[in-house]
Amino acid sequence: MKILGIESSHDDTSFAVLENSKIIFHKKISQTKIHQKFGGTIPEIASREHTISMRILFQQLEKEINIFSLDAIAYTAKPGLIGPLQIGYLFAKGLSDALEKPLYPIDHLEGHIFSVALDQKILYPALALVISGGHSQFYFCENPCKFTLVSETLDDAVGEIYDKIGRKLGFDFPAGKIIDHLAKNSKKNYHKNLFATPKTKNPLDFSFSGIKTQALNLINKLSQKNLLNKEKFCKNFQDFISKYIEKKIFLAAKIYQPKSIVIAGGVSANFAIRNLKNKFSIPVLLPNLKFTTDNGAMIAKTLEIKLKKKCKL
Ligand code: KG4
Ligand code: ZN
Repeated sequence: MKILGIESSHDDTSFAVLENSKIIFHKKISQTKIHQKFGGTIPEIASREHTISMRILFQQLEKEINIFSLDAIAYTAKPGLIGPLQIGYLFAKGLSDALEKPLYPIDHLEGHIFSVALDQKILYPALALVISGGHSQFYFCENPCKFTLVSETLDDAVGEIYDKIGRKLGFDFPAGKIIDHLAKNSKKNYHKNLFATPKTKNPLDFSFSGIKTQALNLINKLSQKNLLNKEKFCKNFQDFISKYIEKKIFLAAKIYQPKSIVIAGGVSANFAIRNLKNKFSIPVLLPNLKFTTDNGAMIAKTLEIKLKKKCKL
């Protein structure tokens, strides 16, 4: 079975072909550099860029793969930026009609969860945490066909506050990777807990905007006193965030008793988050680093699994 996966929900255009679980084509065009000067993604520009990138990727696809041998086309249907999602849909629909091959809509967040299945086995029931620039949420995955949203962020997403705090520190967008790098390499921190833990009515929900405000105020205060050391600050921030997330996973695992824990999405590339792997007695599955950010392979993989398990699509 040969499946084409198309991803265009945010600022990455990506095509991947999966043939019997093996990735035989995987290409991505990222718009990060284009949006960098605005400090965030501009949806209108993103839509236009996707239109250009789809054509380039399709030309490469045609060169490397016999497109008539495709069995199905999967595309990201939601959630994401409306314009970019629409471009992806129209492209996928046009191709599906032209090739007379079935077209399937895929949920982007389920895609992130199944990104770990590209090279690992998810044990069910699983608990999945999706952490990205737009989402921070837990799912209880009873089986590959039944994912239930358990909790989510009440305000900002974790990647979003990494980006906003990074901006304040003078780093380019998206700043998650830069903060992570500084935190990882910093031998020192401020030797005290700088942050207060937010309270949520549902203890499994997240709240990141209060942490963001505390961080921005702290940066101001430390700068005024000439005491701001970016490495130390990033280390304090990252230690706090990973501990906050660890406690939430621990509690969710206690309640849901999963056989495995999946951590996926852009922020699953984070060093401290990846280190949580060793803190649990059940398998903690993380995507290969090249599949933490948005990609077509996870979209194709989601369809492959759902077709194999005869899930309703
Ligand atoms: O899933 P993703 O590629 O895009 C969507 O949000 O849909 O996630 C991007 C987010 C950005 O906020 C970026 O700063 C964050 O993931 N990120 C990281 C790291 N790498 C990417 N955050 C913390 N540590 C990282 N190493
Ligand atoms: Zn994503």
